[in-house]
Amino acid sequence: MAMPNLTGRCAVVTGAGKGLGAAYAKNLAAAGAAVVVNDIDLASAAAVVETIGREGGSAVIDGNSVTTWESSGAIVQTALDAFGRLDGLVNNAGVFYLADPSEEDPAWIEDMVHVNLLGTMYCGQHAIRHMTAHGGGSIVNDTSGAQSGMRHRGTYGATKGATASLTYSWAMDLAGSGIRVNAISPIARTAMVDYGKARGESGTDIPPEHVAPLVTFLLSDDAAGVTGQVIRLEGPQLSLLSRPGARRTTEENPTWDQDSLRAALPRLLELHQRG
Ligand SMILES: NC(=O)c1ccc[n+]([C@@H]2O[C@H](COP(=O)([O-])OP(=O)(O)OC[C@H]3O[C@@H](n4cnc5c(N)ncnc54)[C@H](O)[C@@H]3O)[C@@H](O)[C@H]2O)c1
Repeated sequence: MAMPNLTGRCAVVTGAGKGLGAAYAKNLAAAGAAVVVNDIDLASAAAVVETIGREGGSAVIDGNSVTTWESSGAIVQTALDAFGRLDGLVNNAGVFYLADPSEEDPAWIEDMVHVNLLGTMYCGQHAIRHMTAHGGGSIVNDTSGAQSGMRHRGTYGATKGATASLTYSWAMDLAGSGIRVNAISPIARTAMVDYGKARGESGTDIPPEHVAPLVTFLLSDDAAGVTGQVIRLEGPQLSLLSRPGARRTTEENPTWDQDSLRAALPRLLELHQRG
C-alpha cells in the first residue's frame, strides 16, 4: 500500500482529540505530515499527540475553540509557530444534537451553528489567507448525509448543507490559486454515533480509521485537480454527492399565475419523482 508522502507538510485537524479527527491526525502523521491536533478536550488531544510522537510522527496540541474569529486564527497561528507553514486544514470539529423541530433547544441550535458552520468558515478563512500568500494548500470540510434531510437533524443537517455550499463556492473562488477545497461525508462509530444510538437511531461499527485514508488522499498531491467535490464514504461504498441544481419543467410561461401553477406543479413533481 503506497501511502502519500506528506513529509515537510503541515496539517491542522480540528476536533482531533477523539473519533474521526483523531484517526485523521494519526493517518496524516503516518504519511509524514506535521500535525496540529486541535480540540477543546485537552486531555484527549494530548493523548493523540502522545501516540503520534510514540509512533515517530510530529504533532503539537492546540486547545482553542473553532467558534470565534480570534480563536480560529490562533489555531492557524499554532501551525505557523510550531512548524512554520500550513499546507492542509481538516475542518472536522463538530457537535450533534437530535431534536424534533417543535422541541429544538436554542442553546443546541447555537452550538451546532457556531461549531459546525462558523467554525468551518472561520478556520477556513484564516487558512485561505495564509495559503493564498504562500502558494496553495488543501482544505477538507465535513458534511453529513443529513445535509440531504434526515429526521430530527434539521439544524445539524442545515449546518452540513451550508458547509457543502461553502465548499462549492470556495472551490470556485480559489480555482487557479493552488488551493483545493473538498468536503467529505463520512460514517464511523464515534461518540456522536453512540449518542444517536442511545436515542434509538441506527448505529454503525465502521471504525474511524476506515475514513482516514480519504482525508490523507485529499490533502496529498495524489488529489491534484480534485476540488469542489463532496465525497461520501459509507463503509464499502465510495460516492460523489451531486450538486443541487434546477430540475426544470418542459413548460414555459412568461408569467406564472395560479391556474398555470396549479396545472404544472403536479406534472413537474410526477416527472421528477419518476426520475
Ligand atoms: N461519526 C459519523 O458517522 C459522522 C457522520 C457524518 C459526519 N460526521 C462529522 O464528523 C466530524 C467528527 O465527528 P465524530 O463522529 O468524530 O464526533 P466526536 O464527537 O467523536 O468528535 C468531535 C470532536 O470535536 C471536538 N469539538 C467540539 N467542539 C469543538 C470546538 N468548539 N473546537 C474544537 N473542537 C471541538 C470534540 O471535543 C470532539 O473531540 C463532525 O463534524 C461530525 O459532524 C460524523
